[in-house]
Amino acid sequence: MSHAVTVTGSLNMDFVVQVERLPAPGETTMGSGFKMIPGGKGANQACAAGRLAQDTAVRMVGRVGHDPFADHLKASLAAAGVDVNHVIATRSEPTGVALIWVEKAGQNSIVVAPGANGELTPADIESGKQAYQEAKCALFQLETPLEAVAAALKAARAAGAETVLDPAPARPLPDEVLSAVDLLTPNESEACILLGRAPERVGFAEAAQMARELRALGPKAVIVKLGDQGCYYSGPDGEMAVEGFRVQAVDTTAAGDTFNGALAVALTEGQEMRAALRFANAAAAISVTRLGAQASIPSRAEVEEFLA
Ligand code: RIB
Repeated sequence: MSHAVTVTGSLNMDFVVQVERLPAPGETTMGSGFKMIPGGKGANQACAAGRLAQDTAVRMVGRVGHDPFADHLKASLAAAGVDVNHVIATRSEPTGVALIWVEKAGQNSIVVAPGANGELTPADIESGKQAYQEAKCALFQLETPLEAVAAALKAARAAGAETVLDPAPARPLPDEVLSAVDLLTPNESEACILLGRAPERVGFAEAAQMARELRALGPKAVIVKLGDQGCYYSGPDGEMAVEGFRVQAVDTTAAGDTFNGALAVALTEGQEMRAALRFANAAAAISVTRLGAQASIPSRAEVEEFLA
């Protein structure tokens, strides 16, 4: 039986400042409440899976620098129950960082300096491929080099894992990558970018259409994440819209990552897709009510209480 979730991706230290509004080009504005919070799309997904898992082992594959941020990021994951033995230290680059401005209404702007995340190679994946053994679900994003993502997708498939790609930050993807994906999970703007359209807010009807168009590009199934509206699933077993939860937003950072980590845990436990999507929507909704990436990710008990 396969019971692990393996996450391949980025680890960043997030530098978070709260602002009334985002500065215009050339403008200096005053912010408040500076915090350093563990983040990175890969590490956030691993942290979410670790906090929400019951009997599922969670592993992280990635690269950090040789600096205090690296220790802090690995400690945050280890505290969430994540195995960090496949996080490699590199001396040539610092640990990745993200500069994040959070506006009053909870929206954010993020600039990532990838540092060591940019050093993850197909050779790293090959030499660490035991990380995918017995993984039922393998999670990926796009903050590490695409060649490494492609190699890791292959290694995960070869080990029999279901591959889940969060195409963030969005970029056009080659067929080799898209056809190695079992479940693609863009948000609405990422879905638009993958389809070569200008990003826009959409409802369930447009999300359904986009999910079908994305499946035609290679992934077996697609989930379009629609924030507090919920999400739309299209796969070989059918289609469904699952309503989200409306909450008072404090910071949307890592909501999508929390969704993916929660989804992986639910699917690994054998939950039906509708129940898994509801569980993921709930975990993401709770994360939005708190500031920061890993600092905002709920525990299993919190999600169960929310759903009850
Ligand atoms: O998805 C949120 C994450 O994006 C942040 O934690 C930041 O590190 C960037 O990678």
